[in-house]
Amino acid sequence: MEPQPIADSVIGLKFEPRQTVRLGIIGVGARGLSMLGEWLAVENVQVTAICDIDKNQIPRAQQRIERAGQKPAAVYDKNERDFENLCKRDDVDFIYIATPWDWHVPMAVAGMTNGKHVGVEVPAAVTLKECWELVDTSEKTRRHCMIMENCCYGYNEMMVLNMVKAGLFGEVLHGGAAYDHDLRGIVNENRSEGLWRRLPHTKKDGNLYPTHGLGPVAQYMNIHRGDRFEYLVSMSTPSVGLYEYREKRIPKDDPRWKEKYVCGDVNTSLIKTAKGRTIMLQHNVTTPRPYDRINLIQGSKGIFQDYPARIYIEGQEGGERFANLDQYKAQYEPAIWKNVGELARQRGGHGGMDFIMVYRLIQCMREGLAPDLDVYDAAAWSAPTPLSETSVAQGSAPAKFPDFTRGRWKETRS
Ligand SMILES: NC(=O)c1ccc[n+]([C@@H]2O[C@H](COP(=O)([O-])OP(=O)(O)OC[C@H]3O[C@@H](n4cnc5c(N)ncnc54)[C@H](O)[C@@H]3O)[C@@H](O)[C@H]2O)c1
Repeated sequence: MEPQPIADSVIGLKFEPRQTVRLGIIGVGARGLSMLGEWLAVENVQVTAICDIDKNQIPRAQQRIERAGQKPAAVYDKNERDFENLCKRDDVDFIYIATPWDWHVPMAVAGMTNGKHVGVEVPAAVTLKECWELVDTSEKTRRHCMIMENCCYGYNEMMVLNMVKAGLFGEVLHGGAAYDHDLRGIVNENRSEGLWRRLPHTKKDGNLYPTHGLGPVAQYMNIHRGDRFEYLVSMSTPSVGLYEYREKRIPKDDPRWKEKYVCGDVNTSLIKTAKGRTIMLQHNVTTPRPYDRINLIQGSKGIFQDYPARIYIEGQEGGERFANLDQYKAQYEPAIWKNVGELARQRGGHGGMDFIMVYRLIQCMREGLAPDLDVYDAAAWSAPTPLSETSVAQGSAPAKFPDFTRGRWKETRS
């Protein structure tokens, strides 16, 4: 049985319109600093407060804020719970959270409980209990918890979404999604993600980072806008990559030689939706390989797959072979990319998608629209981490997604 709602759904809940968005940032590490540049590049954003327990990061952030012509931000760097004081400020409208995964939910909950809308880096949560905590808190406080899934704002992803909506692929049947990225170097550094991101590989066997691939495919499939994820089955390969890396690169007296890696190098899950559609979801960050999010959508009339981008629509000129996406650009290029794509590309964060995400969020907040991505998306896109772990541990038995929308997934949205 799903937990009972304590308040109404926040689907479609509009931001209260405002001229300027006053921003607090928790976590100005690698991601937080890079995103700070994006926030400062959007008009009508004022960064009023920053928080990080690493005191070295604070002047780096302040320099950027001052270089953008803004007043130095208030600083919260005293201890691990100092973020609670940032959340209490009355000159913050939106809190962006870019800390290690285990901190996302306590920080988002503190933000919403103190009346702030929040945006959480990915994955938003790491257990089903945490997913529900986000949903319950957002509904109770009437504050949004947006998942900051930048890949939903990529040029190809937004263009393919336009094409799906126009019916070019016919009836959508199957998707492919992944986070395939060789992170062996990054998770072994003595800084930044090396300090926390290797640890889950010693504890969990499943998909540790599902949302970059899954978010865009969920949008192609209208998840929570007419369909929902129902269950997944998952299986993992043995864990070899981090052992081989250590053998080659890590001195024998390093404490890392005590670590046991349990997360299979390649984890593959299959998600079934309520409407019977399927998604293949993969995670592989510990073997040598080129970057790939797959980003595949297959319908009754055609298929798109990325890395590299290629498309086939039945009857397409050139016969039964993949063609370049460019020929569809004139008709399906996303409006936001047409308007501010040049600026986004100049900024460059992940090819411009980071700027587009921030630009769009600020537009929604200024115009009093509902956010594109809400707490239900945050919960369902993050849930494959605990669900894949459960399924892998039970010999690939089906693991059911909770219905975070409590039945509202059936409603379409404009
Ligand atoms: N969307 C993307 O493309 C993308 C890219 C990279 C990272 N991320 C996500 O961003 C988040 C941060 O990753 P990162 O690469 O910046 O890691 P990082 O380790 O470089 O930065 C995390 C920062 O959080 C700070 N921190 C930790 N605990 C804190 C606490 N209790 N209070 C205040 N500050 C605290 C750390 O001192 C550090 O500066 C992660 O969730 C990661 O998955 C997303």
